[in-house]
Amino acid sequence: MCAKKVTIREVAKRAGVSIATVSQILNGKAMNFNPLTVQKVQAARDELGYKADHLARQMVGKQSKTIGILVPEITNSFFSTLVKGIEEELLFSGYISMLWNGGFNGAKEEKALLELAKRGVDGFIIASPSISDEVLKEVLQIKKRPVIVLDQKTFSERSDEVTTDDFNGGLLAARYLKKMGHTKVAVIVPDLATVNIMYRLQGFLVEFPQALQIKTELSKSGGQAVVAELLEQNIEAVFALSDELAFGIYLGMRQKNKSIPNDLSVIGYDDVEMCRYVTPALTTVAQPIYELGKQAADLMIKRLATPTSPYVKRVLPVKLEIRGSVKVKNWSVFKS
Ligand code: RIB
Repeated sequence: MCAKKVTIREVAKRAGVSIATVSQILNGKAMNFNPLTVQKVQAARDELGYKADHLARQMVGKQSKTIGILVPEITNSFFSTLVKGIEEELLFSGYISMLWNGGFNGAKEEKALLELAKRGVDGFIIASPSISDEVLKEVLQIKKRPVIVLDQKTFSERSDEVTTDDFNGGLLAARYLKKMGHTKVAVIVPDLATVNIMYRLQGFLVEFPQALQIKTELSKSGGQAVVAELLEQNIEAVFALSDELAFGIYLGMRQKNKSIPNDLSVIGYDDVEMCRYVTPALTTVAQPIYELGKQAADLMIKRLATPTSPYVKRVLPVKLEIRGSVKVKNWSVFKS
């Protein structure tokens, strides 16, 4: 029975450095590193008997017409719609995609980048926030593959980027609640909120600087968990920074035998398909999710065709989708 193949991850762990550092040192870039680091990596390689995967490296030199996609949570319908937009646009240009679900786990995402690169993807489209810019830079220096960032990932100094107008999205939500006559409002802020979600919060606080901010996990269960506090604080209307948070609030309110919108108005963010199927249908700030995916794929295809052209930043508009989850608190606001 052949001995278990030593992996680059084991070498990195033994040397106490990142996988990308090991890959660079063992691929002719040792001069870029502290001699002590180089010595640790080489010692770990020799002790473990690590052999680089030359066949995979040979593959990397050729175009595979395959693009690696990293998203944080594919079970969230925002990301599944986003991936659909990416995949369908890539296919029009003869590319297929290889998807990796990051799970908000930095180590898993770092491994994903290297595993995808080993399989010779021609580039990466990254919406996951957990991989650090340092590791991304290291991997890209080795693999010389373009990166497109969007949504929860920013890396703008060295990549093309497509985002949506999150700040204006928060402002639209706030102005609508104000127009409906609400004054006692709250905003649900995810723990470790990413840059795009922080922009939404900033836009919302322009109109409601005193809004109660409640922290929770960015998930349906996170939304469900904040209902008790919303009721205790007699909140009239709540801005959930994603539709998933809003759906959790719906369940929490049902469990307390409370009504949306009579006991609490709710406005979400994304406009995933389920917004139309909950009761009452969810009023939300609509991101052009499918189009966002298409634009990311378009940027990748253009980057592969013109590797040295200047980096591109695109910002797509958002809009308010008014349905039934926000009540008119004060009809006088509609005075003619
Ligand atoms: O539901 C997922 C949320 O996180 C969306 O608002 C999307 O923009 C992502 O950032």
